[in-house]
Amino acid sequence: MISQDQLDQTKIPQHIAIIMDGNGRWAKLHGKARVYGHHKGVESVRSVVEACTELGVKYLTLYAFSTENWKRPEQEVIALMELLVRTIRKETPELNTKNVRIRTIGDGHSLPKTCIDELNEAKQLTEKNTGLNLILALSYSGRWEIANAAKEIAKQVQEKKLNVDAIDEKLFEQYLNTKDIPDPELLIRTSGEYRISNYLLWQSAYSEFYFTKTLWPDFDKQELINAIYDYQNRERRFGKISEQLEVK
Ligand code: FPP
Repeated sequence: MISQDQLDQTKIPQHIAIIMDGNGRWAKLHGKARVYGHHKGVESVRSVVEACTELGVKYLTLYAFSTENWKRPEQEVIALMELLVRTIRKETPELNTKNVRIRTIGDGHSLPKTCIDELNEAKQLTEKNTGLNLILALSYSGRWEIANAAKEIAKQVQEKKLNVDAIDEKLFEQYLNTKDIPDPELLIRTSGEYRISNYLLWQSAYSEFYFTKTLWPDFDKQELINAIYDYQNRERRFGKISEQLEVK
């Protein structure tokens, strides 16, 4: 078992992104309804947020609801939205005392009004906090985000506020939901699925991927430490060769 002491404190990723998968399967394994798995999933969110705060991670982005999740049975969508509202309401005061800043990415307008209101309140209350940035990806998909950025840029060009030649990667990033958030160094997916599922497509260009068979409701601080340890033992070359990395 890897202990927290074995982690290199100078190489803690500043941004970890997680695809929290496997709630439904976890519930089935325990003979319960799918929604029970989502409730257990919230406990994992709590322990991972706590662990990130303790380890000094600056940004944690959680895929809480994808654009594609709207296609799930209506009852499950309603249950997930209610769970989100209840969790935000219950957890925000403590997150605030822990200096956590709550943020969101995604198509916020498509969420139910109760959700929007609750999230706005939580975001406003915590906006000056300087600890962990807890970013909830809600009604989010990478393709939606990229298409949306392209549309915004096209509008600017059409209105002659932007010259086509000024469009480059740096400018494009300014039109993404994550414009002032660094790219994730580590992207974790639980439940043994090996896909990116439309998550942070632009931002994960050089992320290290960590896949675990653990279902999200069983994911905890120890699992996070395992993932960070694995990440710390990889060589990130960004297109270069090993020998070039050794030259300081
Ligand atoms: C994927 O498991 C999980 C989701 C689509 C929802 C994740 C939501 C939570 C953990 C709870 C709310 C979150 C916050 C931040 C308050 P799945 O249902 O796809 O599982 P399966 O693949 O086993 O069916």
